[in-house]
Amino acid sequence: KPSIAGKLDNIQGDIWSKGFPKYYETYYFFSIKTPLLNEKNLFSQCLKNLSTQSPRLISTLRMVREDHNRISTRRKEEAIKQGIPEKRVVLPEIPMSNALIAFTIKGLQAIQAGLQDDTSLRLTDVAATDPAFFAGMTPKEVTALLKDPDQDTWDPLFRSTEIHGMLKIGGSSKGKVEEHLKNIKGVLKHGTAIDDVFQDSPSTPTDSRVDGWTRPNDRGKEHFGFEDGISQPLMNGIDEQEPGTNANTDVNMYTDPRLLIVTGDTKRESSIPRPPWMENGSFLVFRKLEQNVKAFEDLTEQWEKKGCESKEHMGAKLMGRWKSGAPLAVVNFYTEDSKDPDKAKEMNNFIYENEVCPVSAHIRKTNLREDLTENDKDPRALRTKIIRNGIPYGTDYKGNENNTKLTRGLLFACYQAHIEDGFQNMQVNWSNDSTFRTGHPGQDPIIGQVAQKSRGVNGDLETFFNDKFGVRQSVKFQQLVTMKGGEYFFVPSIPAMSDDLGM
Ligand code: HEM
Repeated sequence: KPSIAGKLDNIQGDIWSKGFPKYYETYYFFSIKTPLLNEKNLFSQCLKNLSTQSPRLISTLRMVREDHNRISTRRKEEAIKQGIPEKRVVLPEIPMSNALIAFTIKGLQAIQAGLQDDTSLRLTDVAATDPAFFAGMTPKEVTALLKDPDQDTWDPLFRSTEIHGMLKIGGSSKGKVEEHLKNIKGVLKHGTAIDDVFQDSPSTPTDSRVDGWTRPNDRGKEHFGFEDGISQPLMNGIDEQEPGTNANTDVNMYTDPRLLIVTGDTKRESSIPRPPWMENGSFLVFRKLEQNVKAFEDLTEQWEKKGCESKEHMGAKLMGRWKSGAPLAVVNFYTEDSKDPDKAKEMNNFIYENEVCPVSAHIRKTNLREDLTENDKDPRALRTKIIRNGIPYGTDYKGNENNTKLTRGLLFACYQAHIEDGFQNMQVNWSNDSTFRTGHPGQDPIIGQVAQKSRGVNGDLETFFNDKFGVRQSVKFQQLVTMKGGEYFFVPSIPAMSDDLGM
């Protein structure tokens, strides 16, 4: 089996499932200024400088692992010293930051335009091997496929046709992130070789970026209040399976995560192999997902009042986990166990054997677990794996909010070796599709989407669950999560960047 172990210095570090221990993160979007004839390849030269710079500004997998381990060791030591669970340890800031760079197809086309041989990147082959990436997220057909809202409702930044690249910079504080961004902008010659994407209003320089941060009083939780980042595919060769915490049992048992998350030269369905510069990279899906926390609260309360379920239980039925992260399939009732965040991570090695956890619940729709053995039914399911590495944005919802300008949500980011098999299959064929799977379970209540034109008609989404009397109930409600824009990116390996993407 191919292993990642020998590639630690080649692969960009943010792809790793355990992730960089970040508190603040910016997603900065840039355009590559068309390389000038007499300054041939200016951006490629800058990219080469960026990838060979010492100390490194773009993090490798080795660097992110070291940072992770540094924090993890400190945490373990403090936990022992203070006699409390690791999760509850609050460490003083250990200043650190990491960065990843990624390109859209338009960005690669701009790079290609600056190379002498204008077919060297084999971008026409990319159209065959990775059609979703080649199309990007903005064409109308893609909006229709994903059931995304019409683009005039997206944030202006994401309506831009000039997004060529993105810097994803995480850090121990906002200050560390700003410093890191400034350094990279310096190497990439901001203003000459790259520029902000959105320059209509130069007075608001943040227009070309979106920032997120971990929730100050609820670190690790997304805005509906659930612990996030629990279940991730393990990477062959570098991740060890800890007792009870095996994230995706099925990945280890049946498939090879290296080929699912990090690109090899796999042919997939296409008879054309990927160009060599794409090896040891990954595809990054970015989506700004606004969460309507009030609607979530109202929905769960409404079902409590109807006497069907408690608010907490109803929430768990929608997500598939209690807010602590404990899976509903393991802890059926609202007990001390279901509230204990320290135990939740150790309960991830489970399969679904009944409908205690509704078939439509978010984590059941997006990870089939035991059903992967039913290979014949859905062979693509074996390959539908993503590593999630986003961050919440916006201020916490405090109830009784009158200010409609206050918004919040998730800056969703996930890595995969193939967008059609990863994010797209999950969103389109699993979460949006009410017939997927056995017994018409309804849509994923968290991320399911309906086409814009059918919104507001008898509620946007429909999902089913068994109430406490075992009676099947239908719940109809407007989407809790609204996409505000996004794009598909490719994350090249470090050697590819220092080699002009293979030229
Ligand atoms: C798991 C929330 C968007 C795919 C989870 C978990 C939470 C959560 C709380 C459980 C924690 C964990 O297992 O790590 C959300 C929210 C979203 C969102 C609030 C939007 C605002 C998405 C999207 C996708 C996705 C867009 C992919 C299309 C997954 C997967 C898991 C997961 C694969 C792991 C399931 C498992 O292995 O058990 N999500 N999520 N999520 N989510 Fe999401």
